[in-house]
Amino acid sequence: MEIIFDLKGLRGAVSGWKNQGNSIALVPTMGNLHLGHLSLIEGAKDQADRTVVSIFVNPIQFGHGEDYELYPSTLEQDLDILRDANVDLVFAPNLDELYPAGIEADTRITVPDISDILCGEFRPGHFSGVATVVMKLLINVQPDYAFFGEKDYQQTLVIRRMVSDLLLPVKVLTLPIIREENGLAMSSRNSYLNESQKQLSSGIYKAIEKAATMLRTGADSFDGIEKSSVDWLEELGFKVEYFSIRRRQDLKLVNDGVDKSLIILVAAWIGDTRLIDNLQVDI
Ligand code: PAJ
Repeated sequence: MEIIFDLKGLRGAVSGWKNQGNSIALVPTMGNLHLGHLSLIEGAKDQADRTVVSIFVNPIQFGHGEDYELYPSTLEQDLDILRDANVDLVFAPNLDELYPAGIEADTRITVPDISDILCGEFRPGHFSGVATVVMKLLINVQPDYAFFGEKDYQQTLVIRRMVSDLLLPVKVLTLPIIREENGLAMSSRNSYLNESQKQLSSGIYKAIEKAATMLRTGADSFDGIEKSSVDWLEELGFKVEYFSIRRRQDLKLVNDGVDKSLIILVAAWIGDTRLIDNLQVDI
């Protein structure tokens, strides 16, 4: 496994593979790897001849007062995991390598509409930060495939839209959420939870499962399901940012009786930890 910290080395390795006719898959991550990341890596390995994993905690996708400084950094442990997974190349640049002009007045990619709702409403600038760093990675790795997890469902739509609008020659592939035994979606941020918060955290998945059952049985209006789910979670001790039933293709509000492919999305805080989750439902 090659471990590369600079763009020059990255471009050299990738162009060598391209010259040999190898296809390349990229899995962008912020490190602190868990089984969710590993499922993307397995998907990438099945799809392409060469797999590149990037590890970079991207400051511009964190808002002021968010957890950029606290974000778990476990590079040595991550490299062991990636070696065991037989990844071909790990790209782990430092801040200057990806942001030569700094992070205050640099060029940004902004994907309209989809970036401003749900998580985008509560984290202004977040998706522009994500789109910008993913664009930098795509330009420099020039992969045939890029893998993203449906845990961050809105992120996958932002990236698909960017790739489509900017005519990038890469196929975006997404894979389902990997969960803990209690239903909690795996996330690097789960390490912030203490024991009692960990137990409580299964409530998020229970709430979306309950809402999914209500949707499938037509038990209540969309509004009614959303409201009762928020109440239930708040009673458990969560602080809910949103609990929303949307159309799956673009996260717009559901046209009742027309849209059948739906998704339930939630963002909620336990103490100082923000968790997100979602569940796709066909009605
Ligand atoms: P990170 O949170 O490290 O996640 C990297 C990738 O793993 C993302 O595509 C994410 O959706 C996926 N992932 C995380 N948890 C998952 C789970 N439980 N099941 C399945 N997939 C999961 O997302 C980011 O980093 C960043 O925004 C990034 C795209 C790297 C840009 O900085």
